[in-house]
Amino acid sequence: MGRTIFLLISVVLVAYYVYIPLPDAIEEPWTIGRKAAIVKIGTDLASFGELLGISHFMETMQLLMKFQEVPPTSDENVTVMETNFNSIPVRIYIPKRKSMTRRRGLFYIHGGGWCLGSAALLTYDTLSRWTAHKLDAVVVSTDYGLAPKHHFPRQFEDVYRSLRWFLQEDVLEKYGVDPKRVGVSGDSSGGNLAAAVTQQLIQDPDVKIKLKVQALIYPALQALDTNVPSYQEGSHFPMLTRSLMVRFWSEYFTTDQGLEKAMLLNEHVPMESSHLLQFVNWSSLLPERYKKSHIYKNPTPGSSELAQKYPGFIDVKACPLLANDNILRQLPLTYIITCQYDVLRDDGLMYVKRLQNVGVHVTHHHIEDGFHGAFAFPGLRLSERMQNQYLSWLIKNL
Ligand SMILES: *[C@@H]1O[C@H](CO)[C@@H](O)[C@H](O)[C@H]1NC(C)=O
Ligand SMILES: *[C@@H]1O[C@H](CO)[C@@H](O)[C@H](O)[C@H]1NC(C)=O
Repeated sequence: MGRTIFLLISVVLVAYYVYIPLPDAIEEPWTIGRKAAIVKIGTDLASFGELLGISHFMETMQLLMKFQEVPPTSDENVTVMETNFNSIPVRIYIPKRKSMTRRRGLFYIHGGGWCLGSAALLTYDTLSRWTAHKLDAVVVSTDYGLAPKHHFPRQFEDVYRSLRWFLQEDVLEKYGVDPKRVGVSGDSSGGNLAAAVTQQLIQDPDVKIKLKVQALIYPALQALDTNVPSYQEGSHFPMLTRSLMVRFWSEYFTTDQGLEKAMLLNEHVPMESSHLLQFVNWSSLLPERYKKSHIYKNPTPGSSELAQKYPGFIDVKACPLLANDNILRQLPLTYIITCQYDVLRDDGLMYVKRLQNVGVHVTHHHIEDGFHGAFAFPGLRLSERMQNQYLSWLIKNL
């Protein structure tokens, strides 16, 4: 009897976790399905722990991800070390082969919704190691304070402090980096931070060394409209659903669930900030083919109190799409990846459009069979394809 019940429960659980609907266009569904099931088990555990009042959702997730971290080990091609830049921990990857000239430098910012992840995660360690070797570049992979322990602007400020430290002539010289060939790159919330610090840097008179390129991999770029078409379509996209993305956004600013609730309803931007909505207006910024049958609706105004308490969500340092054209015009050469099956797709598409409108050189790769997380997804052919495109662009432009 006990065994039958156990068997039944197992079958139900397996069926529940294995059945994750994926869009038809997505290749290698089994590889993705397996990982998606693990992510779902993790998020369900974290939700359960939170429901019971045992632990904050993100803290459980952080604990689960600790097991995917690896030590900084050098290999035959790359020397790996850890140090601090302006008291921010970083992992540095330096190619071992001799170089007659100073190398490129790439400053990498990991993703994880401002709450999760680190440079030590196996996926990021592998990516940085590979990039350093293939690009013959010094890669600095930075850490930063994470929510819920730290909220905005801590993440932004940590990354900016670390980057500013790197961009000093004597520091670049120490690592053999050519000051004329430094770029930033990041994925997801790391793409958000990459875009934000790149904007900050062009307005900072104290930093003489400027960036040559920015590479943004499915970046999050705005928290004002959570009903852009990709958010509306994305309730079942693999890896990152609309509700999880809204949770990440609101957690970036506060653990107060009032903000999360308002953002889920798309009723969080107060009347007095409604002029900012023009910068994230998908009706005017999204190419026709992505609008499909979606009808644009101005978001319902939210309470002023919420925005006064958590002004971060309408701050350009959190939402790089809110920058005005004068800032955007000065941005360096830009590379942007967007994926079709990604809630963040339209953020990237709108940024491409706004940058092109002011004459910034943008290389845009839209991945028709791509989804959020595909770029650094172990063992996936699609991931290899995306990384190789990215590498070719960096070889040519950095
Ligand atoms: C080192 O580089 C060589 C040549 O690119 C490659 O075949 C080898 O697999 C690399 N080693 C590691 C540990 O990545
Ligand atoms: C967005 O753009 C559409 C048409 O391009 C316009 O009708 C609408 O008023 C705009 N909304 C905002 C909030 O800017």
